[in-house]
Amino acid sequence: MTIPALGLGTFRLKDQVVIDSVATALELGYRAIDTAQIYGNEAEVGQAVAVAASGIDRDELFVTSKIWTDNLAADKLIPSLKDSLSKLRSDYLDLTLIHWPSPKGAVPVSEFMGALAEAQKQGLTRQIGVSNFTIDLLRQAIEVVGKDAIATNQIELHPYLQNRKLVDFMHSQGVAVTSYMTLGYGKVLEDPVIQQIAAQHAATPAQVTLAWAMQLGYAVIPSSTRRENLASNLKARELKLSNEDMGRIATLDSGLRLTSPERLAPAWD
Ligand SMILES: NC(=O)c1ccc[n+]([C@@H]2O[C@H](COP(=O)([O-])OP(=O)(O)OC[C@H]3O[C@@H](n4cnc5c(N)ncnc54)[C@H](OP(=O)(O)O)[C@@H]3O)[C@@H](O)[C@H]2O)c1
Repeated sequence: MTIPALGLGTFRLKDQVVIDSVATALELGYRAIDTAQIYGNEAEVGQAVAVAASGIDRDELFVTSKIWTDNLAADKLIPSLKDSLSKLRSDYLDLTLIHWPSPKGAVPVSEFMGALAEAQKQGLTRQIGVSNFTIDLLRQAIEVVGKDAIATNQIELHPYLQNRKLVDFMHSQGVAVTSYMTLGYGKVLEDPVIQQIAAQHAATPAQVTLAWAMQLGYAVIPSSTRRENLASNLKARELKLSNEDMGRIATLDSGLRLTSPERLAPAWD
């Protein structure tokens, strides 16, 4: 089992905006969609997928959702996942992630990873994984379910936050990297180095940034509300960057973290 290299993010997108984004993306050829319980848009994602589903087999789609921190206890995780499934109008998810580690360790890692593995055993999700996990938390999760059971750790990763220590650990364990906010929520696209590389390839800054991450073997899930951006982001799969381009982007790491909510953030590596 593997994670698709490029999917569609849906954070912040609600109501008709998310329906249009998902429907347009599916029409353009996207087949992977990333949502979460806390995004409050699973029902709308489900609606857009259901409309498109007349032309697309469920097997061709890759739907990811994430368990919110309120639902990590053993008696809540599976019922909350079933609720997500009903909103998403599907019998199973392709990938279910623990969205954030339990704040202040209120629910032990062994409890929620155990419940997540049980959900997989029951066929509610094909693959399982985590998000926003540090090396220490990942080690704890691996102790519970084993490294082969954890398909990915979805983490903030873009040219300004390359997260090398964590990525090295994940590589050593065979846990795939999913980069979220690959475009730095638009910030990276203004970078002069990214813009120069884009000009050299007659590509967009977003394509360069996404191609950089995919060339490093990371899955990406950029979001967009615009058809032209959705279409051009998908074409990033065709862009090949040179070693020199990759080396120049490697130098842009400044440790700039955009997502670190006080209540949720673990002690980052
Ligand atoms: N696990 C987690 O805790 C977590 C946290 C954050 C995000 N995520 C996931 O990661 C996904 C991606 O992150 P994100 O949506 O926050 O940020 P992002 O994908 O880095 O950036 C999205 C922003 O970039 C713009 N954009 C997209 N394509 C563009 C292009 N080709 N040219 C110019 N601008 C472009 C979009 O504007 P337009 O709409 O105008 O195109 C939007 O404002 C989320 O949607 C979510 O699914 C997960």
